[in-house]
Amino acid sequence: MEKKNIDWANLGFGYMKTDYRYVSNYTNGAWDEGVITEDDMITMSECACVLQYAQTVFEGMKAYTTEDGKVVVFRPDLNAERLIQSAERLEMPTFPADRFLDAIDKVVKANLAWVPPYGSGATLYIRPYMFGINPVIGVKPANDYQFRVFATPVGPYFKGGVKPLTIKISDFDRAAPHGTGNIKAGLNYAMSLHAIVTAHEEGYDENMYLDAGTRTKVEETGGANFLFVTKDGKVVTPKSDSILPSITRRSLIQVARDYLGLEAEERVVYADELDNMAECGLCGTAAVISPVGKIVDHGREICLPSGMSAMGPITQKLYDTLTGIQMGRIEAPEGWIRVIE
Ligand code: PLP
Ligand code: COI
Repeated sequence: MEKKNIDWANLGFGYMKTDYRYVSNYTNGAWDEGVITEDDMITMSECACVLQYAQTVFEGMKAYTTEDGKVVVFRPDLNAERLIQSAERLEMPTFPADRFLDAIDKVVKANLAWVPPYGSGATLYIRPYMFGINPVIGVKPANDYQFRVFATPVGPYFKGGVKPLTIKISDFDRAAPHGTGNIKAGLNYAMSLHAIVTAHEEGYDENMYLDAGTRTKVEETGGANFLFVTKDGKVVTPKSDSILPSITRRSLIQVARDYLGLEAEERVVYADELDNMAECGLCGTAAVISPVGKIVDHGREICLPSGMSAMGPITQKLYDTLTGIQMGRIEAPEGWIRVIE
């Protein structure tokens, strides 16, 4: 398989049109059989439900080239499951998990030339999504939907790769109690756009959102969950009903316990505990684990003891083990790796 002529090592996290994508349409109460197509354009009514009322949900995962040359995807069954939960919350039909996995296989296989080589530092980001496509003007769910999957090669989500980030506690809320923060809906990301633009203008890399109800508990960022290491070496991740159940975070808890022998817990983390943390990272498919060096709480700087030049030692071990599993250097727990080719 001849690879595309791309400067893989210098890719950022951006969209690059690849050769093939998957499309399936839902009409008259059923999904059609779906096709792989070269057509990257979507034609829809000016009044499509997704355009008027943001009825859209999505997923994100990656394909990796392993040390021994296989192309694999990390835990896509969990993305299939989460897309179903997201769709149900927005009154959309669900796309069956077995068909989801088949669509991922087909898109990756069709775009093998775009899967970055082992060791390049890049991966193939896979974006499944679904949206209400027929005209809707009174507020109600669509009748017709489209499910699509495209793929695009990507590098690190944050410029500078693994250089520790400076983040601020945001005065904006991302998700309401009993709202949609726990699903992967486009509307949550629209909610975060003004906040991220503001944070960037102020010189921060990201936001830390607190719970909208009390503004005392740590939630997540616009595109990743938090992971902390306490000063006594325990891995802690915030528990909340209004954050996305990150597949990376759930995997890291297992890695911490089973591979590194660390204590790991998911619990409520209060903002006033941040001074007691030794390390902090943002974890997600795009972010992998991006270390945080400084958190600014309305002008008060909380400098993590891990510093601003490198990842903390436990974060580094988690990172090395997770990426080792994804790239085939370390044996994965049963069912974590789907071999495409
Ligand atoms: N939180 C948000 C808001 C996200 O967009 C993502 C990315 O998918 C995550 C967390 C991390 O989730 P995962 O590890 O499943 O990619
Ligand atoms: C992902 O990590 O897959 C996401 O969807 C996060 C997004 C900010 C790119």
